[in-house]
Amino acid sequence: MNLLHLSLLLLPLATAQSLSDLYVSQAPSSPRPYVVPHYANSHAVTIGSQLYRFTVTGPSSGYAFTLMSTNAPSSGSLGVLPHLHQAHYENFFNFKGRFQLWAQHGDGEQHARLLTQGDYGSVPRNTTHTFQILDPDTEMVGVISPGGFEDLFYTLGQNYTSATNTPYVPQATNDTSSSTGPSPNDISGLESFDVYAQLDFAPRRDLANGSAPAPTTTGWHTDAATLGQPGEPYFVANNYGPKYLNSAHGAYQIVQPLVTNTQSQDTNFTLSTIIMGRPRGGDDSVAPTWKAPGAAAFEVLEGAVMVRIGDYPVARLEMGDVAFIPGEVEYQYWTEGAYAKVLYVSSGKEGVDQRLIAGGTHWEFPTFPRY
Ligand SMILES: *[C@@H]1O[C@H](CO)[C@@H](O)[C@H](O)[C@H]1NC(C)=O
Ligand SMILES: *[C@@H]1O[C@H](CO)[C@@H](O)[C@H](O)[C@H]1NC(C)=O
Ligand SMILES: *[C@@H]1O[C@H](CO)[C@@H](O)[C@H](O)[C@H]1NC(C)=O
Ligand SMILES: *[C@@H]1O[C@H](CO)[C@@H](O)[C@H](O)[C@H]1NC(C)=O
Ligand SMILES: *[C@@H]1O[C@H](CO)[C@@H](O)[C@H](O)[C@H]1NC(C)=O
Repeated sequence: MNLLHLSLLLLPLATAQSLSDLYVSQAPSSPRPYVVPHYANSHAVTIGSQLYRFTVTGPSSGYAFTLMSTNAPSSGSLGVLPHLHQAHYENFFNFKGRFQLWAQHGDGEQHARLLTQGDYGSVPRNTTHTFQILDPDTEMVGVISPGGFEDLFYTLGQNYTSATNTPYVPQATNDTSSSTGPSPNDISGLESFDVYAQLDFAPRRDLANGSAPAPTTTGWHTDAATLGQPGEPYFVANNYGPKYLNSAHGAYQIVQPLVTNTQSQDTNFTLSTIIMGRPRGGDDSVAPTWKAPGAAAFEVLEGAVMVRIGDYPVARLEMGDVAFIPGEVEYQYWTEGAYAKVLYVSSGKEGVDQRLIAGGTHWEFPTFPRY
């Protein structure tokens, strides 16, 4: 090989990173900074009428966590037969639409909730659970730790691609091929994927005001919610959980933890929503630079969020777009709008959410001060 050929080979490495390198349509096969737009067919599969997408995978996160979405029409039956996972902590977040979630740990009481936009359900290991999709344009976002659980869906589903990136494929209601999830026989054969069928579980239907057991002193969507004891399932309605206001970094931020290391234990992740106002004085150069030992990801829930990761140019993420940041990589984020909200997941104990909480104060509102 002569010198000219050698320098041509080396040239791309020396070139500055571009936005088109940052944006991917599919979560990559090893950790690196990336952005996946909403509804990209990232490792997409269909299971009956449900369309699953995996925006962060085991390989793309170094097996820290999986971030996924499920788009599906309303259904008269469960989305999957009742089951539990012994090794994986599963988190259900309502991105839009409505679904019902059931969870029971051991001999504890069976809980059911109706989840609307922004509501959250926590399903720790060894918790029997199932769900049912109830509105025509529903999107569940799932966070599963550790990463790699998507292999189950690759095995069960049909690989899927779409030129229009439709959320899910419309099907005539008389189409009987739209059964969801594996049959009783098949789900019982999935233990190698950490799926343990619980076919004796009878989902209760006695919900009142979106909750069973009936809301008492801590009503669903009426009273402040707390995070659960380690190992126990729990639910946090949108903006009813604990809140912390942080104003130390040039903009107001409100963190609402959904899972801290107290709940995740050795599954070693944290999950929060973060609300942000625009940098005070409109000066985005004040946006702080963050870095942590563990991988992290954002999914935009409302508004638009600017993100600069490592050496890549600034990206503008809108609702449903996902940014992934590997451990030890520097990043900044801020919003140019008046109000933005993200779902944030981090591996380990030192994510931005925990640091904003540590530097913040207890706060009662999902909005920040007037000045
Ligand atoms: C389906 O997708 C998975 C993961 O994205 C991939 O590993 C597999 O090779 C694909 N299978 C087919 C038949 O294309
Ligand atoms: C889950 O259940 C299995 C089987 O009973 C047990 O070995 C494991 O320790 C349990 N895991 C947790 C975190 O309790
Ligand atoms: C479903 O209904 C449509 C419109 O009425 C009809 O054209 C189609 O043949 C039906 N399909 C099945 C599977 O019955
Ligand atoms: C449901 O909510 C309504 C309105 O807040 C309340 O009056 C009623 O008592 C609730 N029902 C139950 C079973 O909690
Ligand atoms: C928790 O995660 C962090 C970040 O990924 C990692 O550095 C640490 O070793 C993990 N701790 C345990 C106990 O697995």
